[in-house]
Amino acid sequence: MTAMFLSEHLDVNPLGHLAVDGVDTLALAEEYGTPLYVMSEAAIRENCRLYQRSMERFYGGQGMVAYASKAFCCKAICRLVMEEGLGLDVVSAGELYTARAADFPMEKVVFHGNNKTVEELSLALEYGVGRIVADNLTELRLLDTLAAARGMKASVMLRVKPGIDAHTHSFIRTGQIDSKFGFALETGEALAAVQAVLGANNLQLLGLHCHIGSQIFDIEPFCHAAKVMLEFMGLICRETGAVLPELNLGGGFGIQYIQENDPVPYHRYMEKVSKVVKETCEKLGFPTPFILIEPG
Ligand SMILES: Cc1ncc(COP(=O)(O)O)c(C=O)c1O
Repeated sequence: MTAMFLSEHLDVNPLGHLAVDGVDTLALAEEYGTPLYVMSEAAIRENCRLYQRSMERFYGGQGMVAYASKAFCCKAICRLVMEEGLGLDVVSAGELYTARAADFPMEKVVFHGNNKTVEELSLALEYGVGRIVADNLTELRLLDTLAAARGMKASVMLRVKPGIDAHTHSFIRTGQIDSKFGFALETGEALAAVQAVLGANNLQLLGLHCHIGSQIFDIEPFCHAAKVMLEFMGLICRETGAVLPELNLGGGFGIQYIQENDPVPYHRYMEKVSKVVKETCEKLGFPTPFILIEPG
């Protein structure tokens, strides 16, 4: 049988077996048993570099790409991501523990979750996680108390629902007002949360976060979200005098799950969003923030 090229990292070898980066998957199955997950390290590194280069090229490196480890979290992946210079988005004590076991730099960890437990928040403080993304007022109060007990200030970002419909499947759409994640903008809930953090003794507000959904193939909703979030940062500045240094724009960039999916090349997203961020900040007379993005 002749070899067949399927994609850059996948082909069918002369034995008719699927091969990942030239490694015969039948041989892998014999060695490790099934079911077996096989990842192409080369493909993952290429993607990391693509994101890093785009951030550097279009936003002058004034940002951080954090791999959303809910996509796949193990020590080897954490190390790989660390070697490529990315940050890490975690969403549970398990992921946080794995990151720590891989010696991932804790200041580059972003801790998410809309129902974090006392144990998880305590662990985040103990490990010195760089950014805890708070989702609700109960969590903020709890974090303030836990940080006070440790005599420290917790570095907080607030997850905001920018009220954007990202034209993706309803199950993976998270930016709209009735999403269970974060503070709504339209209702004044988000501004109240900002005021709560600014008034708390043991919380430091680094900035805002939004994640409008997954498998988004259109650049426009991302640009819209960035603009809405920056306008809100402008409002915060006018209302409270606080100039927030960071904006986390989440993940959600569409990938090719099935043949018909046609993802936008990632650099085009970064190019457009960077332009929107710079133009909006200039219009608002506001310094451009440090940007985070979280591809999964
Ligand atoms: C907060 C947050 N950031 C990033 C991601 C990653 O999204 P994706 O895998 O679609 O890029 C998710 C996915 O659910 C998320 O909830």
